[in-house]
Amino acid sequence: MSTERKVVLTCAQPTGNLHIGNYLGAIRNWAELLDDYECYFGIVDMHAITVPYVPAELRRSSLDTLALYVACGLDPERCRLFLQSHVTGHTELAWILGCVTPLGQLERMTQFKDKARRQGERVNAGLLYYPVLMAADILLYNADLVPVGEDQKQHVELCRDIAHKFNNTYSETFRLPDVYVPSTGARIRSLQDPERKMSKSDDNTNGALYLLDEPRVLRKKIMSAVTDSGSEIVAREDKPGVTNLLTIWSAATGRPIAELEEACRGLSGYAPFKELVADAVVSLLEPIQLRYKALAEDKSRLESIIAQGAEAAQKRAWRTLSKVTRKTGFVERPRK
Ligand code: TRP
Repeated sequence: MSTERKVVLTCAQPTGNLHIGNYLGAIRNWAELLDDYECYFGIVDMHAITVPYVPAELRRSSLDTLALYVACGLDPERCRLFLQSHVTGHTELAWILGCVTPLGQLERMTQFKDKARRQGERVNAGLLYYPVLMAADILLYNADLVPVGEDQKQHVELCRDIAHKFNNTYSETFRLPDVYVPSTGARIRSLQDPERKMSKSDDNTNGALYLLDEPRVLRKKIMSAVTDSGSEIVAREDKPGVTNLLTIWSAATGRPIAELEEACRGLSGYAPFKELVADAVVSLLEPIQLRYKALAEDKSRLESIIAQGAEAAQKRAWRTLSKVTRKTGFVERPRK
């Protein structure tokens, strides 16, 4: 029954351009969960303001990210897509959770230490509190599973500690969420530096294939991707560039790498190989781009998706929030 389905929740910041690594490594895998789980996908605009930013750009990229998620297959009829700032409860719960979180634990978080080191004196309190807000994002929906990348695992661990502490201090309230590791999921690397992962924030935009890059741009980037010495087209440790292109091609088409290597036997040089990769990427992204464009032009549809997601998320959020505020000892809110 739908009410017994496990709850999956993940969130992403609305910053930067989504690229093919985000799609093949994450978003596409989330889309496969929609039938088996009750899924919540949040765009965490409140996390985005912990670092310097431009308000108009935040608004724009929040909407763009949401539209792109829908275009990537996060069907709003089968999951709840919402903007974090639209749901009452994230910050309220974060405050309460913060009061059971040891300060030292926040100061020891790797990501905080990295960012604080880089920002020095200017570091704001929001950055320190960031993982508590993230714990609230997860616990507000009582999520069972949280799909995140390697760099966010420590935050989910902290969320479990906080949930445990709350349960112990008051009474059993929260499930302890687990990190969800998808069975498949390609790790895509930079086209310019295949030792590093493809990144949203890379200064060299030629390293990333953005989901909204025009076909001609996608082709150009793939044709100028760094390859390795020699001319063999095989996936091998000493050939990270070729391996990355084969990985992208395989993930884009669903064909095993061995089969693609076989298909490339007899090709002369890397250029015809890269053209095949480009064909596959362009056909993968074309339908996403078309759906995105249609949605971007249909403001009222986008608004109704946002409203519908916020309402569904809020419903679940209220349930948790009222339970938590009662346990915390706050007087029940007067009903209007
Ligand atoms: N911190 C996450 C990131 O930068 C985003 C995030 C915020 C998140 N809240 C979350 C991820 C809750 C999963 C669950 O990627």
